[in-house]
Amino acid sequence: MEKIQVALLGLGTVGKGVYRTLQKLNKRIEEKLGVSIEVTTILVKHPEKHRNFEGNHLITTDFQHILDNPEIKLVLEAIVGVEPAYSYLAKSIKAKKHVITANKAMFAHHGKELLALAEDYHVQVGFEATTAGGIPIIQTIRKLLHVNQIRQVTAILNGTSNYILTEMREKKIPFKQALYQAQQLGYAELDPTNDIEGFDAFFKLMILSELIFHEQPAWSNVDRIGIKDITLRELLEQQECGKRIKHLASLQLIDEQIRASIIPVSIPATHPLYSIEGVDNGIVLETDLVGRIILAGPGAGAFPTASAMLEDLAIILRSLHQSTITVSQELINSTT
Ligand code: NDP
Ligand code: HSE
Repeated sequence: MEKIQVALLGLGTVGKGVYRTLQKLNKRIEEKLGVSIEVTTILVKHPEKHRNFEGNHLITTDFQHILDNPEIKLVLEAIVGVEPAYSYLAKSIKAKKHVITANKAMFAHHGKELLALAEDYHVQVGFEATTAGGIPIIQTIRKLLHVNQIRQVTAILNGTSNYILTEMREKKIPFKQALYQAQQLGYAELDPTNDIEGFDAFFKLMILSELIFHEQPAWSNVDRIGIKDITLRELLEQQECGKRIKHLASLQLIDEQIRASIIPVSIPATHPLYSIEGVDNGIVLETDLVGRIILAGPGAGAFPTASAMLEDLAIILRSLHQSTITVSQELINSTT
């Protein structure tokens, strides 16, 4: 069976989730895709942290080593921040490697450039894991809605915020305790500022804007308020009125202008996102043809994110296999 060598950049919550899922599900992947996936190199920053990791022999701190290896066909990136992630992926693409990323901060800044570069170098970019964890929202918009026009998006896009608000309200615990739990569960980023101040949901909304409207609004025009100042008292007061405070990201086109906001909103039980609780994310798409589409599911954590990255991997491998069949068929046709 053909072996596909892949490199993993990052071995934190997401990187480990991807590595372990691949070990666990490789047989299933082999059966479904007809190829075997082998992680041959893992890039980290602090190798001393990973001495007890089961795949310790694969670890490197030298990105060039990955770049120079022509056998590595695919790079899965799960590191933090815009750089060096962007440079690593741009170089990987130029070395004709397909790339898959979970890094929304980087992709909100440079997704457009990476997609254009990938087109020039005839490779593919997967970015399902950047937005809404395990929910296949990117593929739904990219591959399943061609005729429908999406007019409006209302969504819960940060699992940590939704988890904190739910835990505070249900268990009557303070913000700090709920945040600590979200960090222990691997939902929050190592530095949780982006989660609790709304930047994480902001980046995800910008990625959706690019995908749906082919551009982003001016970032300075986007209202962004996180959940860090919401008190237990406010949550309970709203609950008494039959409402829940949710951190809502909204996107719509008004008079040819993209309007976007990420703010806490008190919503009634009739709202489609009222019952999206815990780490789940929910996305409501208002379209002109089919009408309303709602997607919901786990929005953060090791395995939902690994799921999104591995579905991207499957799509890329399937399309490569498909193009091999097409090329072979063309060769057969040209010789008969
Ligand atoms: P972690 O902080 O747990 O892990 C980050 C990993 O990146 C670490 O292994 C770290 O190495 C490595 N790293 C950081 N900088 C560098 C560098 N310059 N060179 C090489 N390696 C580097 O983060 P997560 O796993 O939680 O998140 C990874 C990415 O995925 C982020 O962009 C995040 O926004 C995104 N994401 C996270 C989700 C989640 O639920 N946690 C869900 C969806 C996306 P070392 O261990 O040696 O320090
Ligand atoms: N920290 C992010 C969240 C991870 O809580 O939503 C998923 O992107």
